[in-house]
Amino acid sequence: MPEHPAPRRRRALRAAPAVALLALLGATPCAHADDDAARAAFLLNCARCHGETGDGHGTETLDRPARSFRDGGFSFGNTAEAVFRTISHGIPGSPMPSFEALSESDRRALAGYVLSLGPPRAEASDEQTELRVAERAVVVRGLLPPISAAASEQPRGLLVGTPDGLTFEYRADELSLLGVRFGAFVRRTDWTGRGGTPLEPLGKVVALMHAGAPPASFSLVGGPSSKGTRDGSRLELPLHCELVATRVNGATCTLSGTLVRPDGSRLGTLEESAGAISSAFASGFVRRLGVPLPPDGALRVDLGLEPGAETLATTEDAVARRTWFVLRATDGEVRCLGVTLSSGEPVLVDGPHGPALELRALPGELLPRGVEIVTLLPAHWTDDDLHALLDEPLR
Ligand code: HEC
Repeated sequence: MPEHPAPRRRRALRAAPAVALLALLGATPCAHADDDAARAAFLLNCARCHGETGDGHGTETLDRPARSFRDGGFSFGNTAEAVFRTISHGIPGSPMPSFEALSESDRRALAGYVLSLGPPRAEASDEQTELRVAERAVVVRGLLPPISAAASEQPRGLLVGTPDGLTFEYRADELSLLGVRFGAFVRRTDWTGRGGTPLEPLGKVVALMHAGAPPASFSLVGGPSSKGTRDGSRLELPLHCELVATRVNGATCTLSGTLVRPDGSRLGTLEESAGAISSAFASGFVRRLGVPLPPDGALRVDLGLEPGAETLATTEDAVARRTWFVLRATDGEVRCLGVTLSSGEPVLVDGPHGPALELRALPGELLPRGVEIVTLLPAHWTDDDLHALLDEPLR
């Protein structure tokens, strides 16, 4: 058991004036007990990475340093609500885990404690230009700046903000997900003007699809006879996807679009909704799709990675009926893709544009196929992590 005499001393010194002050204010001792509880929860759950004083120097060696809370510069938002979301959801692609297993009141107390470690904040919220997401998903359309160096401006951009603090950034003219952000939602200098000024997404990018410049999300391959083939190189016909409607239902926003073949004929209606998902192993997001399948041949669903991704593991979670594909992208980033289909078995192919799911209609299948794709973004991956991936419950 290592000894840490210094923090205990500091705490004793701090406690005395706090008690005196509370007595002066006539506060109940209960408030003080809550502070102590929050501090204890911080030491138990957070100090190994963030340091006992919150200075970012914990005992854990991290390839990406944890944030010091003492300088107050939060990249994912410095309101109590934003810090609560970070603690609840974790930060995709970083070692910061999700603490959804703690009670909501513990997470709120921890958020207050973390903020109390930093300098006093300017609480003044005269931010008329920032749009925030509360309990319901929010959809905003307009001109979007390029999401990355490889991407271009999107005159018909679409942002979906979810209550967990994620923003899904789409292009709406050729419906496709460009990337996912985490943090605050969006600012516009003028929300009243028609057409308006460009949107300014405020969250930090935590995932990009094809570096922010994705090909068509859906394509058709092959004829009736290509049963069981995993040849990724067959001719792909990209489908055009036109956004038709957006529908907010509580915390979820569903986008619907029409999938159109290159010859102009209509394949059917696509539905997509997205939200946050995390486990104690890693954080990420989930997309739920309803896709129409061609009567012959197959539909490919792009998975957002460049060609040449390496498959590190493929495994079944029989209980959740989910197949995990662990892929390492060419830039080294690891993505754990958990796929659940309403019917049939998921088949992963390495198509000309990168890894894709290949879906074939079963005999007599007429309804759109339900496809759920969980994307977890661990900060790093070793073979041992497969257990954590399978064992830690998703929330
Ligand atoms: C395994 C290490 C680890 C543990 C445990 C951990 N964190 Fe973190 N945390 C990090 C890292 C690393 C970052 C920075 C991630 C980044 O900026 O990409 C971070 C970032 C954060 C942020 C976001 C700061 C910002 O920039 O907005 C908050 C808030 C936070 N942690 C709170 C906590 C709390 C509260 C706990 C305990 C309940 C905790 N963390 C436990 C590693 C950890």
